Amino acid sequence: MNIKKFSLIAAFAFVGVWGMQSCQHEQMGDPNAAICFERDILPIINSKCAMSGCHDAGTAAEGYDLSNYKKIVSDGIVKGKPNSSELYEVVADNEMPPKGYTKLSDAEKQMLYDWIADGAKNGINCAVKCDSAVSGFTAVIQPMMTKYCVGCHAYPNASAQVELSGYIGVKNAINQGLLKSLDHSGNYPMPKGGAKLSDCEINQVRNWIQRGAPND
Ligand code: HEC
Repeated sequence: MNIKKFSLIAAFAFVGVWGMQSCQHEQMGDPNAAICFERDILPIINSKCAMSGCHDAGTAAEGYDLSNYKKIVSDGIVKGKPNSSELYEVVADNEMPPKGYTKLSDAEKQMLYDWIADGAKNGINCAVKCDSAVSGFTAVIQPMMTKYCVGCHAYPNASAQVELSGYIGVKNAINQGLLKSLDHSGNYPMPKGGAKLSDCEINQVRNWIQRGAPND
């Protein structure tokens, strides 16, 4: 191959690789970022906004489908500007979720704000923050249910009569298929519409149950 041809190919290869990387760069968030979309933001939106009858793909109430990253950022978010983002505005002033559903906690609102302010990046394959040796109800199990489940499983609108907003409800849920729902070995994989929890998180629940499900 002559040198002219070679440099042409090399130039194309360079532009190709560079182009791919800059494109990925724009789309992807850092999996080690303090707030990572898939791990920190999506589960909250899935549980508190994207339930059936509300903002799932099938219902898309008021035109808002909040079931995946593309839809979430195109329907309710101005990247970098939380205060111009409909999605943040309605949860910040408690207009959403509507009456009868669990609101976002202050910490969750802050996380949503920070994520949008930082460009609402699509963080995937996020680093797992979990220690399977720790399984206290207050430290681990309750926050896990709050993050992934209570949007659909709190009174007065608790799906399947499974109430996961406090100790008694979560303990009762053990006999309602809690572990099977989490490890996807039963008929109703949970969180409904969302990704399976990490093995580490599922093991935390398993360990808690094996320890007699104490209110610790
Ligand atoms: C988006 C709404 C939604 C979320 C989030 C959700 N669930 Fe459910 N869950 C449901 C619905 C609806 C049912 C009834 C069965 C069905 O339609 O799939 C159900 C059923 C269940 C059942 C009963 C299963 C059975 O065998 O009868 C359990 C246990 C359960 N969920 C646990 C959980 C846990 C634990 C989480 C969080 C990790 C969770 N769910 C998150 C909507 C949800």
